[in-house]
Amino acid sequence: MSNVADSPAAKAPCIKILTLFPDMVRTVLETSIPGRAQKHGQVRYQVVDIRSYATNKHRKVDDTAYGGGAGMILMAQPVVDAVEDVRENDDATVILTTPQGEAFEEALALELLADLQLKGELIVICGHYKGIDERAIDLVVNREVSIGDYVLSGGELPALVIADALVRRIEGVLNNEESANNDSFTVTRGGGLDCQWYTKPPEYRGLAVPEILLSGHHANIEKWRTEQAQKRTTERRPDLTASPKKSS
Ligand code: ADE
Repeated sequence: MSNVADSPAAKAPCIKILTLFPDMVRTVLETSIPGRAQKHGQVRYQVVDIRSYATNKHRKVDDTAYGGGAGMILMAQPVVDAVEDVRENDDATVILTTPQGEAFEEALALELLADLQLKGELIVICGHYKGIDERAIDLVVNREVSIGDYVLSGGELPALVIADALVRRIEGVLNNEESANNDSFTVTRGGGLDCQWYTKPPEYRGLAVPEILLSGHHANIEKWRTEQAQKRTTERRPDLTASPKKSS
């Protein structure tokens, strides 16, 4: 019996990014690990130009805010039309990147990855300068996500941050050397920070690699790394030691 997942017709899950700057988004998705993952058929990307859904003569997609105030607001119509056009699964999660969203952390990356794999697609709308007409959010967005407490010029970088964090956690995307198992925020690191790492040469500008790392004693090395990771977490991010995050 043929397995659907093995059949040539089976498609990799698709991350669909709706943006006013498609070239910027494509360049990043084609590079490094996200690019390799697509080449290997582990994920697909669809980059959608919101402007191509403008219905007016000048392809205008934003306008001034009702009630006044500085900054342009992205109109609801091109955004809603774009989502409704590219969405294949009515249950797909539609994210808007915005500083007003829930905080993006490793645990949320894993949750969104599971969602992408279940629904077959994940739609990410890149937020815009001052904002986006709230009616677009009411109509098509079901999750608003922020990558941190600072304001960026647009939602493209946050969308790419989200895509990268998800894709690197797809099984088989990272090779052994790149393994995510002991990265910061993983279970191996107790939800805390990673330890320090060194490569050749053993001495550089008078600074020597810690002797234990040259000992060849794997159990002791792992113990040292765990201790160092815990020390860093306590010193730099005491908030992470209070309630370790549950990402795996
Ligand atoms: N758009 C602008 N700043 C942002 C942020 N910090 N997170 C998500 N989207 C944004």
